[in-house]
Amino acid sequence: EDAEKSGYDHYMLKEIHEQPKALRQCLRGRIDDLDGTVDLEDLADLDHEGPIQFVACGTSYHAALFGAERLQRAGVRAQAFLASEYASDRVPVDDETLVVGVTQSGETADTLRALREAARAGATTLAVTNTVASSAARECDHALYIRAGPEIGVAATKTFASQQLALALLAFTLSDGPTREELEALRDIPGQVRTVLETTEARAVAEEYVDADAYFFIGRGYHYPVALEGALKMKEITYRHAEGFAAGELKHGPLALVTEDTPVFAVVTGDDETARKTIGNVKEVEARDAPVVAITDGESDVTRYADHVLEIPAVSDLGGSVLANVQLQLVAYWVANLLGRSIDKPRNLAKSVTVE
Ligand code: AGP
Repeated sequence: EDAEKSGYDHYMLKEIHEQPKALRQCLRGRIDDLDGTVDLEDLADLDHEGPIQFVACGTSYHAALFGAERLQRAGVRAQAFLASEYASDRVPVDDETLVVGVTQSGETADTLRALREAARAGATTLAVTNTVASSAARECDHALYIRAGPEIGVAATKTFASQQLALALLAFTLSDGPTREELEALRDIPGQVRTVLETTEARAVAEEYVDADAYFFIGRGYHYPVALEGALKMKEITYRHAEGFAAGELKHGPLALVTEDTPVFAVVTGDDETARKTIGNVKEVEARDAPVVAITDGESDVTRYADHVLEIPAVSDLGGSVLANVQLQLVAYWVANLLGRSIDKPRNLAKSVTVE
């Protein structure tokens, strides 16, 4: 087993470090350099113009939120649902609808049930999965493989990054297509993830806050699913209380939980209206003496209000959310490591959840 971990103490850390390779595999052969288009061979016979619904659980649901947001920004009617809450008699689903199941394993019972229900209602179904010949891949009308390679750690890491990238490619295919800048930004992501993996601040931040009462994560737009994912990763491998919030929601309740013993991780990239609004929320928590950890490309002045900075390269907000998530994976890993947790097999959790 030690040989399989290639010198890393845990599969999770190994898989975090495999992300540049996983992302390159995800992109391979799918971008046509000559005419600047995305070419998904897996979906050559998918021709869809109607609404799109995503169904997924856990980390895959966070990736689905990210995919839905990209499509919405392109003017496509798209929505992400928790598979366990999806019911075809409550949401409008018919033969005009494409229902996309996002599932690393392809075996998650809740997601399979939602897909089957959607298929019965006449929808076209698509599995976005890591596992060739999984139930989801076999049962759906179409399959798009994320090509992350096997993931052993129960906590999903490289598969989340690969889902983000695959869903960005899917969104480009199902909408207007990417601009040249967007394509170049996508292609740069694997190398930028490598740059993030060379930084050491995440470990220092973990050491500083290993005894915190709770950990909060905030973000807007593409960074909202990253806030949710940062909190989920922290919960599942450290067993500590962690919550992710849409940054604008803080003042509607969660702010009451914020104290000097609850670090707030804020994802802020660029220097646009979205960044400025999140910085406004950062000031709200700073005023309550909460330690602020900014995950940022340094384009805005969020660093003025932060106690710690986890740097990422400057890219689009879409790419920035992939990079920011890598920093949060590292923080969760190092907190769990310091606490001596069973990182690869957290208590009560299974890699693939085959019951509803
Ligand atoms: C995340 O770290 C967990 N492993 C979990 O939330 C997982 O993403 C969820 O159970 C869905 O699994 P799937 O992608 O295989 O469907």
